[in-house]
Amino acid sequence: MQRYNKILKNKDYIKALNLIEKNEENRIFCKHNLEHFLDVARISYILSLENNLNIPKDILYATSLLHDLGRAYSGKDHDVVGANLSTKILKECGYLCEEISLITSAILNHRQENNENSLSSILYKADKISRQCYKCKAQKDCYWEKEKRNEFIKY
Ligand SMILES: [Fe+2]
Repeated sequence: MQRYNKILKNKDYIKALNLIEKNEENRIFCKHNLEHFLDVARISYILSLENNLNIPKDILYATSLLHDLGRAYSGKDHDVVGANLSTKILKECGYLCEEISLITSAILNHRQENNENSLSSILYKADKISRQCYKCKAQKDCYWEKEKRNEFIKY
């Protein structure tokens, strides 16, 4: 079994995912559920292939599956909380120390835009591109600036 599939079966992962689902039950804006995590994973993989970055699929998928997990326990600092929680889960799923530090640093930096072709910049881009602004019912209340919204399908 791929290591990222072990994440799906991890008890801390399942618990956090369920908590986010409960917290966001009445949320009108973009949700942070498995569908979002998989959209980010697949777009990250496409971006990595298109840019010849050769980032291994199980690193991209692990990063994407875990990047918003901290939202289960914190809104404002969800990147920090998520990185700590992810360290434990990744260890349990067989990721190596250097892989864990790469993934957690991408999670910690995924809310800042940067132009490098790094894992954190791929995560940042995929996270934004994945959102379906073109069919969103909460457009008028969304805090995203109009020019940053996705008007068309890119991936
Ligand atoms: Fe996200």
